[in-house]
Amino acid sequence: MSPSLETRLPRGVTLRDPILLASGCCGYGEEYLPIVHPGSFGGIITKAVSVSPRLGNEAPRLRETPAGLLNCIGLQNPGVDILLSEVLPRINQLGYGYIVNVVGHTVEEFAELVRRVQTFCSRDGPAADRQDDPQCNGHAALCRGITRQRG
Ligand SMILES: Cc1cc2nc3c(=O)[nH]c(=O)nc-3n(C[C@H](O)[C@H](O)[C@H](O)COP(=O)(O)O)c2cc1C
Repeated sequence: MSPSLETRLPRGVTLRDPILLASGCCGYGEEYLPIVHPGSFGGIITKAVSVSPRLGNEAPRLRETPAGLLNCIGLQNPGVDILLSEVLPRINQLGYGYIVNVVGHTVEEFAELVRRVQTFCSRDGPAADRQDDPQCNGHAALCRGITRQRG
């Protein structure tokens, strides 16, 4: 019998193990499918998403050093509309856990992003099956906690 590494986070989020792939390093997970299925880890933290699309910085954006990798990608991302309408419905089909990473210029932008991701996780529609998915409900609960804290 192999030991269980199942990890329970507050608000009902359960991971199969405690290893999460760092934000941005594997985009939204799809890019890694030919190499390693993100479902073999606890999950991935997605590349940061903002209210509006961001092109990121001009090249060069990555530089190897003797000590590791320097990066200044500039939080390139397609924006929350595309994330919710295209990316999340696609990766929901692939069956791995993810935590959506959000980036904003103001507290209001952070709150809007959290609200929209929360709505996505709990709405009817293409991802309706997620309503019964404890992991997705857990993510929504996490977001609800954040929006409540704002009063
Ligand atoms: C190609 C690349 C893209 C990244 N994109 C993001 C991102 O979109 N959002 C974010 O919060 N961090 C991003 N990061 C930062 C990584 O999450 C971070 O470097 C990683 O956690 C390692 O932590 P350290 O740099 O403190 O060692 C990115 C890193 C790399 C190398």
